[in-house]
Amino acid sequence: MNATGSPSPLDEARLRAACRADALPWRVSVLAETASTNDRLRDTGRTQDVAFEVVFAEKQTAGRGRRDHTWETEAGQDLTFSLALRPHLPLEKWARATQAAALAVCRVIENLASLRAEIKWPNDVLLHDKKVCGILTESFGGAGGRFLVVGIGLNVHRQRFDDSSLAETATSLALALSPSPAPDRTELAAALLKELAACLDGIADDTRHAALMRDIRERQALLRRRVSLRTGGKDLTGEVTGLNDEGALLLTLPDGALLTVTSAEQVRPFA
Ligand code: BTN
Repeated sequence: MNATGSPSPLDEARLRAACRADALPWRVSVLAETASTNDRLRDTGRTQDVAFEVVFAEKQTAGRGRRDHTWETEAGQDLTFSLALRPHLPLEKWARATQAAALAVCRVIENLASLRAEIKWPNDVLLHDKKVCGILTESFGGAGGRFLVVGIGLNVHRQRFDDSSLAETATSLALALSPSPAPDRTELAAALLKELAACLDGIADDTRHAALMRDIRERQALLRRRVSLRTGGKDLTGEVTGLNDEGALLLTLPDGALLTVTSAEQVRPFA
């Protein structure tokens, strides 16, 4: 926080120094404003190899979530950033990155305070059953070959969610940690970059990925809960019985059949 009680701006020089000190692969930029950090990397990637570029934005004017939802943040309050990488993996395994990134966010939050963070399959991080972070993973063709962009929106200092649907379902680190203060965003970002480097590097090796999956399974928000979801144009209900080794959702349907769901929209637990 600065003297006026506002969160301090993200410090690009400190982030770069932290990456150097920990020998992290990231090349970091902090922008005052951009439409969407995912779009920024997608567009830059058309003319140059962006693997290991990380872009933070203090303000996004067209932040995107999954299924073309908008991702609203308050300028200078939260963390909105995207990382580009080119996993040494067959394309069908690139989806591992989403939950590996979610695990990295959970570990960093858990290290800050004695809070248990959970992963709501496939791409949300929850605190006390409310969403604190969303992840948007996309792959694009580019000058250096196909690459992956992992976009992360983490609510840090936000005190209010004006959209009434979010007021019930979203939270921030400040709200969850209160009365303790939320962490400095630059320190938090540095810790995230370190943990993200470890987890995203781990997806390229099956043994290390299996260890990540063990930690991901321990944090499943939906385990043994009845959910409704939409997949392949069909609405389904069932009980979540786990995750397979690639992170797909295992769902037991009302007739007892076991379904492996690799992607879905609107995954909603019943109360
Ligand atoms: C979701 O919950 O649907 C995913 C939200 C992802 C938001 C982040 S903010 C940084 C990056 N840039 C974007 O436009 N979206 C992602």
